[in-house]
Parts: sequence; C-alpha cells; structure tokens
Amino acid sequence: MRILSGIQPSGSLHLGNYFGALEQFLGFQEKGAELFIFVADLHALTTTKNPEELKKNIFEVAAAYIALGLTSEKTVLYRQSDVPETLELNWILSCLAPMGLLERAVSFKDKTAKGLEANVGLFNYPILQAADILIMQPDKVPVGRDQKQHLEITRDLADKFNSAFGETLKLPDPEIPKKVAVVPGTDGEKMSKSYGNTIELFADAAELKKQVFRIQTDSTPKGQPLDYAKCKVFQIFKLLANEAEETDLAEKYRNGEVGYGDAKQILLDKILEKFGPARAKFAKLQKNPGEVEKVLASGAKQARAEAQKNLAAIRKKVGLDS
Ligand code: ADP
Ligand code: TRP
Repeated sequence: MRILSGIQPSGSLHLGNYFGALEQFLGFQEKGAELFIFVADLHALTTTKNPEELKKNIFEVAAAYIALGLTSEKTVLYRQSDVPETLELNWILSCLAPMGLLERAVSFKDKTAKGLEANVGLFNYPILQAADILIMQPDKVPVGRDQKQHLEITRDLADKFNSAFGETLKLPDPEIPKKVAVVPGTDGEKMSKSYGNTIELFADAAELKKQVFRIQTDSTPKGQPLDYAKCKVFQIFKLLANEAEETDLAEKYRNGEVGYGDAKQILLDKILEKFGPARAKFAKLQKNPGEVEKVLASGAKQARAEAQKNLAAIRKKVGLDS
C-alpha cells in the first residue's frame, strides 16, 4: 500500500500538525507501508514572500520529520520543488479543472477572509495539491480533517482525467484521524500556523511554557470544581495522555483539586515528556543541517524517478509523447 502526504513549510510545526498528520505518518511507517512524505515548499509560496524565512521553514519541517522518527531507510522524504514533474501535471490538471470547482474551495475563502492576498497561486492551490498526489499514485493520503475537500477535488480531477483520456490515475482515499477532528489553539479556534495560536513541538522550553499558559480558560478560582469537558487544556491533555492519566485529571478537575494554572503545568510536563526525545534530536539536527540535506537529496532522487515514470504514461495519454 502506498501512502503520500506533505506539510507546508509556512511556520513552526505544532500539536495540530502532529495529531492531524504527523502521528499518522509515523503509524504508517511502523506498519511497513510504502511512504512518500514531502515538504510542500511550492505551496508555501502562496503566502510566504520572504526567502530567508522560507528556507528556515523548509529545513524545520524536514528536520521535524526526521526528529519525530521518519527515516530515509523506510520513507521517501523529499522537497516538493525537487520534483518538477509535478508542475507539468499541475498544468494538465488545470486544463481539466472547472473554475466553479475551485470557487467552491473553502480554504481559499477562509484564507482570503483572514486577510491573505488573493493571488492566483492561492486560488490554484488545490490543483497543485492534486498534482502532488496523483504524480505518485498513492492509495491513501493521511491528512487532518481540514484537508478533506482538497482530497475530494483531487479525486474529482483524477476522475475527469480518466474520463477524458482513459483509465490512468488511481483515485486516492483520504485517511483522516478519528481521535480528533481539529486540535484547538490557545484561543479555542483551530490551531494553525497562520493564526498565532499554536503550541509548537520544537519551541524552546521558555517559549513553550508561554504558549501553554496562553490557553484561554474561564475565571473560576482554584478550589472550585472545574468542568473538564469544556476546558481546552484538558482537551489537549487528553490527546497526549493514557486513559488512567485522563481519568485522574478529570477527577481532579471535578473535585477542585487543580486550578487552571496547575492543569497547564501538568499539560506542559506531558508535552515535554512525550516530545522530549524528538526535541533533543531536532536540536541536534539544527547543529548539523548537512544530515537533513542528505536525506532530502536521496529522497529527491527516488521521488523523481517515480514521478518521471508516471508522468511519461500521462503525457502519452494526453498526446504529448513524441
Ligand atoms: P496550518 O493550518 O498550521 O498551516 P497546515 O495547513 O500546514 O497547517 O497542515 C498540515 C497538516 O496538519 C494537514 O494535514 C492538516 O490537516 C493538519 N492540521 C493542521 N492544523 C490542524 C489542527 N488544528 N487539527 C488537526 N489537524 C491539523
Ligand atoms: N495542503 C496541505 C496542508 O495545508 C499540504 C499539502 C500540499 C498536501 N500537497 C499535499 C497534503 C498533498 C497532502 C497531500 O497541510
């Protein structure tokens, strides 16, 4: 079974990215699936116009993949822009995509409503995503719930291609985690790099503490019973804890044994425990960027070979072969 996914290097990775996407990537690697995981640097250009920042973010996403346990021995790790074949398929798919399909895309509406520039790249974003996917012909694409529509568009475009040129492209299935729909940010909205409400996986300890303590709660004083079901601190803790730890903290909320400050400290400790080894590895990689580059260079070769093979078949179908 082939699995493919990617994350945009548009900022530092956070708990939402972990529970929505990264945890699934690691699960598939463990199960021995054939895994293609990339850094979606071309997508990041829709919003990033700062080359230094982009470079730093590309490195950080790649380093995060490796630090969390993805390994080039089992997984093809690569940079989207190292596979230019994707852009040719992007064009072919553009010529099949009805305007209305993209006009209905919620991510474009959401992003522009949040004040992002409505450039054509942002509008075409789902087509490039479809090209990323279809060029590698995966069976499944693990993503967070917010990417569901992009997967529907991908399937739609694959179907349009097949109807126009004959059965060629496999329609991939989205793989969306059941445990959590959307990880809430410190303000209660969806945790997102673009909303400034994240709890980052690799922030230094002082910054991480600030982020955790920024989680909004009500003003019930310590000593009073707290409603854990409504508390964002608890909702995030639940994702990291085992059942016994969850029941224990719920009980402490109920009997007024913890205040929100205590709960935040418990959450912070849990994050540091869970991601401690990955954080240490990430720090090491930052001192040795060559190691990350090596992984990306070897991944690029493998990914490109696969893309070239699939693109050759696609070109033939549309009449571009000589
Ligand atoms: P962001 O919104 O922070 O820019 P991305 O769009 O780069 O995140 O998302 C990368 C992956 O992480 C996607 O699969 C996405 O669905 C998932 N993801 C992002 N934020 C969340 C969240 N708050 N809850 C669950 N999954 C998320
Ligand atoms: N749009 C995805 C996100 O914001 C990133 C992405 C780009 C992607 N291309 C992809 C995810 C292909 C899965 C498959 O997270």
